[in-house]
Amino acid sequence: MSVERTFSIIKPDAVAAGQAGEILAMIQKAGFKIIGLRMTRLTELQAGGFYAVHKERPFYQGLVKFMTEGPIIVMALEREDAVKGLREVMGATNPANAAEGTIRKRFAENIERNCIHGSDAPETAAVELAFFFTSAELL
Ligand code: RTP
Ligand code: MG
Repeated sequence: MSVERTFSIIKPDAVAAGQAGEILAMIQKAGFKIIGLRMTRLTELQAGGFYAVHKERPFYQGLVKFMTEGPIIVMALEREDAVKGLREVMGATNPANAAEGTIRKRFAENIERNCIHGSDAPETAAVELAFFFTSAELL
């Protein structure tokens, strides 16, 4: 197994609730190295583009509204098996189904306001990392 990169967002609900520090601590305790991190706020165009894969889904408009409602923290993370590993630390999309000890179990309100994003495959991670970071910014 080799070192892999993944991309993550601490979503507006968690940033507004002051949970970013605890979420970062959980990510670091799980062995991830933070190689890029920045606070930003998405425009509708950016949020729509980032989640374009869900354009036809009924929750798309609500998702774009949610993701633009306040500041977010975007992160580039490195670890062995990072993509799958981060999804495990995050827990299921719907916090009602998330395992004990996961970030979403602890902090997410519901299936939409679920505090964290993580790339779902290495190919997606590469695209999402490039959406927010230049290679020179990743340390
Ligand atoms: P993410 O992309 O944010 O890491 O979440 P995920 O892979 O676990 O879930 P995905 O199916 O990709 O959905 C993206 C985000 O859309 C919102 N959502 N709302 N109302 C709903 O039924 C619904 N379903 C999904 C969530 O914010 C979800 O994380
Ligand atoms: Mg997803």
